[in-house]
Amino acid sequence: MTILALETSCDETAAAVVADGRAALSSVVASQVEAHKIYGGVVPEIASRMHVEAISGVTQEALRQAGLTLADIGAIAVTHAPGLVGALLVGVNFAKGLAYAAGKPLIPVHHLRAHVAANYLTYPELAPPFLALVVSGGHTHIVEVAGYTDFRVLGRTRDDAAGEALDKTARLLGLPYPGGLHLDKLGQGGDPKAYQFPRPKVSGSPYDFSFSGLKTAALNQLKQLRIADCELRIDFAASFQHAVADYLCGNTLRAAADHGHTKIVLAGGVCANSVLRAEMSRRCGALGLALYLPEPCYCGDNAAMVAAQGYYEQPAGRAAGLALNALPGLGIDAASDHAK
Ligand code: KG4
Ligand code: ZN
Repeated sequence: MTILALETSCDETAAAVVADGRAALSSVVASQVEAHKIYGGVVPEIASRMHVEAISGVTQEALRQAGLTLADIGAIAVTHAPGLVGALLVGVNFAKGLAYAAGKPLIPVHHLRAHVAANYLTYPELAPPFLALVVSGGHTHIVEVAGYTDFRVLGRTRDDAAGEALDKTARLLGLPYPGGLHLDKLGQGGDPKAYQFPRPKVSGSPYDFSFSGLKTAALNQLKQLRIADCELRIDFAASFQHAVADYLCGNTLRAAADHGHTKIVLAGGVCANSVLRAEMSRRCGALGLALYLPEPCYCGDNAAMVAAQGYYEQPAGRAAGLALNALPGLGIDAASDHAK
């Protein structure tokens, strides 16, 4: 089945057409980064307004690039959770209108499940069960994916997400939004061991994270440095990313060993990070584990991943009615209450 999907949970307006959950026929992303850059982060009202302006054109372009019309589409998938509520509502309402007008089923998709599904586009052979590390701007989860719609969270951050820690540290170094990406570029060739950062243990949960301690350690160390010194900044960027990657890999691989997983899947915007990709590849190689990394174009927010997950959500009885709402705080493992 060919699915048209829409994604508007944060600051990218995206539409895509995907065949049978695996083959992307088109993937169009209109980024709002330039508009939010001057504020140093996403401004929700601006995000919603820009989604309204872009969504129709982006959807038409996705159909055009796929060489299809709405009549060729089997179902319409949309990100309905989690994210900025005003931003989510633009996609949800547009998708509802489209589904109603064209007489197509409407499939609500969880944004973090979609990030995991980005891997199905890159690896046609990949199937659950596996262990996923989901690292985005707002979430950090270690998730057991027992089936395409069967998720169990084993570990999560207790405070900041990994992406947030990278973005805030980048900001301390004077880098523009989105910080994680610029930190990655700055740290190339730097010494990853030049500065030390903690790997906080969270009591009562062996796989949980606390990234606020790393962020505070970065702030305290930076106060004592001459921030304008180029070499120092490069080493600092490399060391901080090394600490984040080491912390993420350590907990994930401990969870994999304890729960008998041999397939590790990375997902979310932060998995574009070159240090994390290299560190996880090295460790999985040494342990004989299979590692799946989405192509860079499917790491950040896009709609192809929403279509990929939507393909598997529909047989799970999740076609929604026109009462579908945006659910900004819905967990990846939550049973949806919107099914017909
Ligand atoms: O998944 P995503 O695009 O949006 C959310 O769902 O949150 O993730 C955005 C996050 C931001 O924190 C951004 O700085 C980070 O992904 N990011 C990176 C890189 N590219 C994007 N972090 C580190 N290295 C990168 N290359
Ligand atoms: Zn995302």
